[in-house]
Amino acid sequence: PHKAKWKVWTKEDVKRTFPKRKPGSHKGSFGNGLIIAGTDEMPGAAILCSLAAKRSGIGKLTVAASRFVSGIIASRLPECVFLHDGLKKIVEGRMPEKMTAAAIGPGLPSDETVELAAAQLLKTNLPLIIDAGALTKRQYPKREAPVILTPHPGEFQKMTGIPVADFQKNRIQTAVDFARENGVILVLKGRNTVIAFPDGEARINTAGNAGLAKGGSGDSLTGILLAFAASYKDIKAAAANAVYFHAACADYWKETRAETTLLASDLNETMPFVMKEFE
Ligand code: APR
Ligand code: MG
Repeated sequence: PHKAKWKVWTKEDVKRTFPKRKPGSHKGSFGNGLIIAGTDEMPGAAILCSLAAKRSGIGKLTVAASRFVSGIIASRLPECVFLHDGLKKIVEGRMPEKMTAAAIGPGLPSDETVELAAAQLLKTNLPLIIDAGALTKRQYPKREAPVILTPHPGEFQKMTGIPVADFQKNRIQTAVDFARENGVILVLKGRNTVIAFPDGEARINTAGNAGLAKGGSGDSLTGILLAFAASYKDIKAAAANAVYFHAACADYWKETRAETTLLASDLNETMPFVMKEFE
């Protein structure tokens, strides 16, 4: 019954709300993130997510992954630290200290262990991004820190039981209803991603292109969301800007190269040029 209040989120909106990095800032000013992602069969999701988080300015990053996955990440990204057998530790409630935001899901299976880890994270008061394997049908507890869910349409169907064809006709209102009812931020992905807030507002992203329609691009978005959620004061701007920035990186690639050839890992190479226009 609450009609969604929505607007298209533009480059001007991003520029206006992009936080300035103060000259006297230190790594503690930009958050201490935790990523729970990747399996030995799907290590790339953890790499893409971690790379994107670091490129997006997070101060410190801990990755909870197997030794195999950690080894691969360390060789690509010497800037992060690791929590070995992290998934198990988090299930047992042994959270690493001093974290300020967390993301769970890329490259993880939808199994009981992942569900238990997500439940532990929901008990904390950390801003939390939930993606991919960690997206299931569940209740969301009342908590102060924001929860951001990032389903593509197939995952949203799994979370709600509503068939894709039914909600795609009315995706803005459906997303806002879900965000209000569950007290979460819902990023419903795909062409014209909807970012819906618990207050009934929504932002629409019209940037991006079909070069993003490729395994791995969602993992990069989760990393960007983690970095922005960890470092912004305004969580609504953080979510909308992350979605825009991710899409704008694909558009930047397309200016000079074929969209077909875009790899999720290429997004990390275009980030410095695209963000240059915001900061
Ligand atoms: N136009 C614009 N943007 C698009 C388009 C399009 N035609 N197609 C896709 N995108 C964007 C989406 O909006 C989203 O940001 O690309 C991203 C795709 O994200 P996902 O659907 O999550 O895709 P993917 O990266 O493959 O997810 C892989 O999911 O299966 C799990 O665990 C696995 O972590 C892995 C992850
Ligand atoms: Mg995905």
